[in-house]
Amino acid sequence: PLKTLVKMLAVASVFATSFNVFAEPIEIKFSHVVAENTPKGQMALKFKELVEQRLPGEYKVSVFPNSQLFGDNNELAALLLNDVQFVAPSLSKFERYTKRLQVFDLPFLFNDMDAVNRFQQGEAGQTLLNSMTRKGIVGLGYLHNGLKQFSANTPLKNPADAKGLKFRVMASDVLAAQFDAVGAIPVKKPFSEVFTLLQTRAIDGQENTWSNTYSQKFYEVQSQITESNHGVLDYMVVTSDTFWKGLPADKRKIIKEALDESIALGNKIAAEKDNQDKQLILDSKRSQLVTLTPAERQKWVDVMKPVWAKFEEQIGKDVIDAAVAANK
Ligand code: LMR
Repeated sequence: PLKTLVKMLAVASVFATSFNVFAEPIEIKFSHVVAENTPKGQMALKFKELVEQRLPGEYKVSVFPNSQLFGDNNELAALLLNDVQFVAPSLSKFERYTKRLQVFDLPFLFNDMDAVNRFQQGEAGQTLLNSMTRKGIVGLGYLHNGLKQFSANTPLKNPADAKGLKFRVMASDVLAAQFDAVGAIPVKKPFSEVFTLLQTRAIDGQENTWSNTYSQKFYEVQSQITESNHGVLDYMVVTSDTFWKGLPADKRKIIKEALDESIALGNKIAAEKDNQDKQLILDSKRSQLVTLTPAERQKWVDVMKPVWAKFEEQIGKDVIDAAVAANK
């Protein structure tokens, strides 16, 4: 009877493993640096919902917002170590892995988010999703946040107004060069530190989307926001080659579809939040809106645009041309 029992248990355990009856679901970790009430935060939660709905008991997605698990300085390294399976850094944060994505940081390149979208979905943009595969990073799609605005505690109307001020930038040489061009001092810092740096006046200003400026409360510690729309802050949702190829093909397909749908939702939220969060900031009266006349804006273009030439070789003229062409 003992022998029979052992046999039965063995059969049951093979059954359980093959049909995943008692096995714990496989955990997929998605780490990001923003709040949950943002395009990326909402996209990640939708992804969790869809994966768990479509692969019940087999996979579970754990979302870690607000740099809780990994921040700007280590999320991509963690991805390559398989300590996290999905991250979606802004396109400015891949410099160590490819120089080609720097195209997105060139100041005054895109006229609007429609142009950004056309470029991303076009041939050049789609090719850029694979620009880090040799480093083990797989680009699965672009996610929008929006156009960036400058903020400070002084009205930035003319480029000369920024002279000598310290601005936080993401870890991007192009963004640093953009502030160098106006005689400002760029300081590369992780997102999680920006509020405190502004609050303690260790830095004078920053550049970000309405959504990030709102959800991080930057507007509470910056008295002026210049509506400059001078650059784009978008994301690439990435995974590691090891993790991605390790998934059974049928599961990979379901997960990719869930991701595409979540990104579509995130993009819709990004478009809505851009206006809503701007309005919430203005309603708060903590921060004043600085608008630029066409002539004033042109001055910023004139001093910042020479940055393009400095990075043309690294990025590739073909890539820059494709981005410019997306404006029409
Ligand atoms: C930033 O560092 O300002 C942004 O990239 C944060 C984010 O992920 O939106």
